[in-house]
Amino acid sequence: MKQPQHSPHVPYAAHLIERRDLSEDTALFRIAPEPGALAELSSFVPGQFVQLSVPDAGEVPISPADLPTPEGTLELCVRRVGHVTDLLHKLQPGAPLGVRGPFGCGFPLPEMAGHPVLLLAGGLGIAPLRSLLMHLLRHRDGYGEITLMYGAKQPKLMLFRQELAALAADGGMRLYLTVDFAPEQLDGSFSCALGLLPDLLKGFRFDAADTYAAVCGPPPLYRCLISDLEAGGVAPDRILLSLERRMRCGVGRCCHCGIGQKLCCLDGPVFRASDLKGIPEAL
Ligand SMILES: Cc1cc2nc3c(=O)[nH]c(=O)nc-3n(C[C@H](O)[C@H](O)[C@H](O)COP(=O)(O)OP(=O)(O)OC[C@H]3O[C@@H](n4cnc5c(N)ncnc54)[C@H](O)[C@@H]3O)c2cc1C
Ligand code: FES
Repeated sequence: MKQPQHSPHVPYAAHLIERRDLSEDTALFRIAPEPGALAELSSFVPGQFVQLSVPDAGEVPISPADLPTPEGTLELCVRRVGHVTDLLHKLQPGAPLGVRGPFGCGFPLPEMAGHPVLLLAGGLGIAPLRSLLMHLLRHRDGYGEITLMYGAKQPKLMLFRQELAALAADGGMRLYLTVDFAPEQLDGSFSCALGLLPDLLKGFRFDAADTYAAVCGPPPLYRCLISDLEAGGVAPDRILLSLERRMRCGVGRCCHCGIGQKLCCLDGPVFRASDLKGIPEAL
């Protein structure tokens, strides 16, 4: 007998397995959705998002920070910024949650195959880009040179820094880190520049015509990086941006997440810079 299809509006039950603090306001949450969610979650493409529900608080869109494990657990890197995320940060392992998705369009992996990939992450932007990075490194032979440039305000806000340094030491990628300022002594185990993320790009020599750039960070960063990447020779349809909008349904029904004529939850959250030209409110 054919199983009735699960409604995309109804969350699967899940529970919190563990949390790991990454900075004073950001933590990595590992959650286990019920087995019924596995088939849907296994279709996850880096850049897509899930709607995470916290009982008695509400629902928030979050881009998983890695691909689901074969057992179906999910890693979500979440900053505490308001009502729902504040409650999430107070939960103990075992606490009930809900999850639905994955939703939206992620990074165009088949098209990126064989090409160099330049990842540019500002602040919390490393969270959605981490799932792309992990995918690229797990399929290392399928892509050209992989470079991650990551900028944070200060060293203690740099997320995953030991993990990223270890991945770079393994030789799978080039890693360039920068902080806006460094009030404390920089940890000698990793090298880090002082300055803004666009400064890292200046003078960086790469095969721009063949490269795909994946960008995620605070909105003002996008305009600056797009213009620098285009000036450097990266085609606008190869500049991939992960955008954020307030969301409700997550599946293109409520029109809450409009970007011009496009919907962030359906046409994005990963967009090409070429698709956003002429939409002034996009960035
Ligand atoms: C596709 C997508 C992926 C995301 N991935 C992540 C992620 O991996 N990690 C993470 O920590 N956050 C992520 N976010 C942002 C996250 O959804 C918001 O921080 C969260 O919804 C805030 O909910 P809240 O109830 O805690 O805060 P609220 O009390 O609702 O708001 C607190 C503050 O955050 C602002 N805010 C709330 N939602 C958004 C939003 N969607 N875009 C911009 N500003 C917002 C509000 O204007 C307000 O200033 C993502 C958002 C989208 C759309
Ligand atoms: S969140 Fe409802 S249409 Fe995008």
